[in-house]
Amino acid sequence: MKRILLVATVATFTMGFAQANGASDYASGGCASCHGATGVSVFPTYPNLAGQNAAYTVKQLKDFQSGVRQDPTMNAIAPIVAGHEQAIADYLSQQ
Ligand code: HEC
Repeated sequence: MKRILLVATVATFTMGFAQANGASDYASGGCASCHGATGVSVFPTYPNLAGQNAAYTVKQLKDFQSGVRQDPTMNAIAPIVAGHEQAIADYLSQQ
């Protein structure tokens, strides 16, 4: 299940990559399937991202990418949005 979701996430993100902005990066990154369309989480065990400080969100994404912060799901997903951390974080901070 997790593997299927990841493949779908990568495919969707690659297709949506041409027009890069925070909202579309977030949507096409597949983030909404867990964190909700506007960053209000779909599942009670997943964190809300809406309204979060952008600098904090950027740091978490980079920490997931480097492995400083460990979570099997996010360690796999965060690298997909490399280079788009700030745009996504700005979008989420404004929700
Ligand atoms: C398969 C579900 C899933 C998907 C898809 C997903 N996340 Fe996550 N995310 C999680 C979970 C679960 C956590 C909590 C990890 C932990 O416990 O450390 C998390 C944590 C985070 C955090 C840290 C929140 C905090 O309060 O510290 C950020 C930021 C984040 N995700 C951003 C994203 C972005 C951006 C995307 C899309 C590129 C994304 N996530 C896609 C499940 C997901």
